[in-house]
Amino acid sequence: DMGEYQHYMLKEIYEQPSVIRRVIQNYLTDQKEIIKSELINEIKNSDRVYVLAAGTSMHAGYVGKALIEELVNIPVEVHIASEFAYHMPLLTKNPFFILVSQSGETADLRACLLNIKNKGFKTLTITNVKTSTLAREADFYLELFAGPEIAVASTKAYIAQIAVFAILANKIALNSIDIKSELNRVAVAIEIFLENQEISILAHEKLTKQNCFYIGRGLDYYTSLEAALKLKEISYIQTEGFAAGELKHGTIALIEDKTPVIALISNKDIALNTRSNLKETNARGAETIIITLESLKHKDDEIVLNDVNSFLAPMLMVVPTQLLAYYAALERGLDIDKPRNLAKSVTVE
Ligand code: M6R
Repeated sequence: DMGEYQHYMLKEIYEQPSVIRRVIQNYLTDQKEIIKSELINEIKNSDRVYVLAAGTSMHAGYVGKALIEELVNIPVEVHIASEFAYHMPLLTKNPFFILVSQSGETADLRACLLNIKNKGFKTLTITNVKTSTLAREADFYLELFAGPEIAVASTKAYIAQIAVFAILANKIALNSIDIKSELNRVAVAIEIFLENQEISILAHEKLTKQNCFYIGRGLDYYTSLEAALKLKEISYIQTEGFAAGELKHGTIALIEDKTPVIALISNKDIALNTRSNLKETNARGAETIIITLESLKHKDDEIVLNDVNSFLAPMLMVVPTQLLAYYAALERGLDIDKPRNLAKSVTVE
């Protein structure tokens, strides 16, 4: 049931604060231990974690990589499932595998799992569907508690995936962060943004071309990949996510008058670098949008969000980009919940 919302996608975007609270409730408040010590030990004793996924789940995997590397200090590689299945990289001696999948049915991941199991290695599936094939076939599973995601474009599952990665990494790191209150802060920041957002106007005024670029550095680069996928899959605007510093090495040639370039800026150490990359595009006629945090804002920045822990900033930074995609598609009169050529779960290789 869509309730007051015109589309499932919009409903699911607005559900995100409550999804975060449900994840907190299940993992951090209730007495039951969802994350078994056996799983913790498997990860702790591995010399490298391989994250396998597709699409949006892979983008959550990139954030997961950053969280695990920073908090746990184990190297993490993220691989495209369909590539990993048939072009397996050289593995370390004690690898551990994390499969990330909203549906738990993605065929590319099932192909990976077969190969990994043949080699006798241990696996964890992070999924929204605990009865799914990938949940059943892995050694461990962690549930997202996002509730059924109906829209083809994944939103709330992505947020939940990052939350679960953060909780898992923090638990392995012996709770070095007060994760409960940091996640709560993210939920509140999303709520505050959603209450006052005027994204439809921005989308109308600035997303007027058939192409678009997102740029960011570090975690914001990962968010830019996810933001680009979301915009292209439902609005059919050709969109690319770029490491902000990389644009000038070729792709800037594509910037014309009014080409939209959207910068994601949540990290203070590299905020000015990204701003100067954006200025370069501005000078070539780009129509720019800045999405940033309160403590980093400059006058005239278009979208300013409340500050949150920088580790978790991707959960917040992605929300305006979901709405930009939604309103761009709405304005074009497209089938938002069921974009052309796509299925909710991709069960063929
Ligand atoms: O169910 P999964 O998480 O395994 O699905 C992976 C991708 O097919 C999925 O994230 C897809 O990219 C979405 N349509 C993105 O919005």
